[in-house]
Amino acid sequence: MTTSTATTNTAAQAAPEPDVRKGLYGVVADYTAVSKVMPETNSLTYRGYAVQDLVEHCSFEEVFYLLWNGELPTGDQLAEFNRKGRSYRSLDPGLISLIHSLPTECHPMDVMRTAVSYMGTKDPEHFTPDTEHITHVGHNLLAQLPMVLAMDIRRRQGKDIVAPDPEKSVAENLLSMVFGNGPESPASNPEDVRDFEKSLILYAEHSFNASTFTGRVITSTRSDVYSAITGAIGALKGPLHGGANEFVMHTMLAIDDPGMASDWVNNALDNKDLIMGFGHRVYKKGDSRVPSMEKSFRALAERHDGAKWVAMYENMRDAMDSRTGIKPNLDFPAGPAYHLLGFPVDFFTPLFVIARVAGWTAHIVEQYEDNSLIRPLSAYNGPEQREVVPMDQR
Ligand code: COA
Repeated sequence: MTTSTATTNTAAQAAPEPDVRKGLYGVVADYTAVSKVMPETNSLTYRGYAVQDLVEHCSFEEVFYLLWNGELPTGDQLAEFNRKGRSYRSLDPGLISLIHSLPTECHPMDVMRTAVSYMGTKDPEHFTPDTEHITHVGHNLLAQLPMVLAMDIRRRQGKDIVAPDPEKSVAENLLSMVFGNGPESPASNPEDVRDFEKSLILYAEHSFNASTFTGRVITSTRSDVYSAITGAIGALKGPLHGGANEFVMHTMLAIDDPGMASDWVNNALDNKDLIMGFGHRVYKKGDSRVPSMEKSFRALAERHDGAKWVAMYENMRDAMDSRTGIKPNLDFPAGPAYHLLGFPVDFFTPLFVIARVAGWTAHIVEQYEDNSLIRPLSAYNGPEQREVVPMDQR
């Protein structure tokens, strides 16, 4: 051993162990005034308002306005917000042909991600981000992503598109563009529209979750808002995050018989499998959003002959609880709720995108207005420094 290596080793032994938090577990990365998650009381507020109150008393648009502006709108402010947002309900012809050119086998989240990325290429202002531009893009996404989603569903089903209606709310318009306006469409049932809208409110925001944090990281480099949202969609797609709502329904459909739910859960746990729709990085005693979503799911089940899915939900939840104590998260009731509304399972996470655009854009503004490049450190655990051996001697 050479003297210099011995010195290096001694220094390495003396260095304190770095405080590595894998998955940034428990790390507080910044301040936010957008929402507050309180795991000790299973509660969540958006700009100081309890999410359960917002679900009961507000429209999705009011909540969207609140997340952006910090205050609930007056009647005039909401009318202006809606007038502006609804005026953007038309798609660029290039985007329409792009959507139709994408493989019908690809996941619909890939279509959403590609659509936002494409929108960025058509916006000459995209590299001059400021609050006004970010909210302008947010309005566009709120108006156009439901159209992208509806167009994608209907092209896969071989159906013609249904034109957007400037008189309709985001929730009603989306249901009508996906399912049409016939008497059987959920768009024609105000209770279905309202339960769907509640799910959008519950999905709209949740502090520094993985996709929002991704959007903030991208924004922190002074990149543009389309890049931030495109990256956020990529993060949301994963089954440990937004993709879980699809996996919940795939699981329920695979089990099929509620009487088999308990055995299925126990078998999965014996195999050390993760069961989607359960657990949360922050909430350990229950997800604040589940009671409201469960109420809407049960109401949808009553109207749409969904007793089987309620039994499945209860049996899986009880089996998981008695074996592990791990509670359901929002995706667990949202999955079967979207199934009862008639959405194809692959489109559940794109629905989450439409809602979460509200939170993402609020956080992008916050990051932009008080920015510091997000760049953590790593603790190196690879080989010690060594010399390159030339190719002919290896
Ligand atoms: N199914 C089975 N076991 C689970 C579980 C689940 N859904 N969620 C957590 N656990 C287990 C973990 O494997 C871990 O077991 P171990 O101690 O034997 O290793 C233990 O519970 C503690 O997990 P924890 O550290 O609290 O989880 P996390 O914070 O790293 O992960 C999630 C949180 C959300 C990633 C995790 O719960 C999960 O993968 N859930 C399923 C996906 C999902 O529903 N995502 C949507 C979240 S809103």
